[in-house]
Amino acid sequence: MEFDLEQTDALLSTTRAVRKRLDFDREVPDDVLLECLQLAVQAPTGSNRQGWRWMVIRDAEKKQALAEIYRKIGGDYLAEAAKTADANSQTGRVMDSANFLAEKMGEVPVMVIPLIIGRLEDGTTNSAAGLFGSIIPAMWSFQLALRSRGLGSCYTTLHLGAEAEAAELLGIPDHMSQAGLLPVAYTVGTDFKAANRPPVEEITFLDTYKNPIKG
Ligand SMILES: Cc1cc2nc3c(=O)[nH]c(=O)nc-3n(C[C@H](O)[C@H](O)[C@H](O)COP(=O)(O)O)c2cc1C
Repeated sequence: MEFDLEQTDALLSTTRAVRKRLDFDREVPDDVLLECLQLAVQAPTGSNRQGWRWMVIRDAEKKQALAEIYRKIGGDYLAEAAKTADANSQTGRVMDSANFLAEKMGEVPVMVIPLIIGRLEDGTTNSAAGLFGSIIPAMWSFQLALRSRGLGSCYTTLHLGAEAEAAELLGIPDHMSQAGLLPVAYTVGTDFKAANRPPVEEITFLDTYKNPIKG
């Protein structure tokens, strides 16, 4: 099988955190969501446990309640950061955009909360990587599948500061973990760009961390 590298690389390099260009007025059909989730569950999971579950939230009151939880945890921080960060810097633009999303979160057509069966048993890297490493690849695949169909999303985690409150609202059992909250919508236009990132040669090491791959 040969991939069209131009298309594949474009998908991988232009799937952005979309906030201001979410189309808050256009419906997102279940079929599209399910198609993207079907692709998402091709992602790897530790021991092939496949413990992902997906909450789709369309109910207006529940979306508003989740948005309030989100703002309760992150609203003040984002509003302050949006005010104080340099508006022309990448961070300043992210903060302004994140503050916008916090304000509009309850109005997104649909929210998706990825769940994974299990709770962190201890604070070790091993246990955190095993648990969240079995849902985050699927979340990202879901976001890539959305992008390829003209939709967008933004990986958010702020509401997890009150995870139990969201679990109660949605009837999520105690033995499950939420991995984030994805606002999902069609995007206004589909022309997204690759972001500025450091050259990988500067952050890649060969055999020992003391040895940059291109020393
Ligand atoms: C673990 C994680 C948590 C994040 N949490 C939030 C969040 O709570 N709210 C938000 O607006 N964006 C959140 N983001 C999105 C990042 O701000 C965004 O990915 C980053 O600024 C880079 O932008 P890009 O994805 O368009 O390249 C999160 C991203 C990751 C990976």
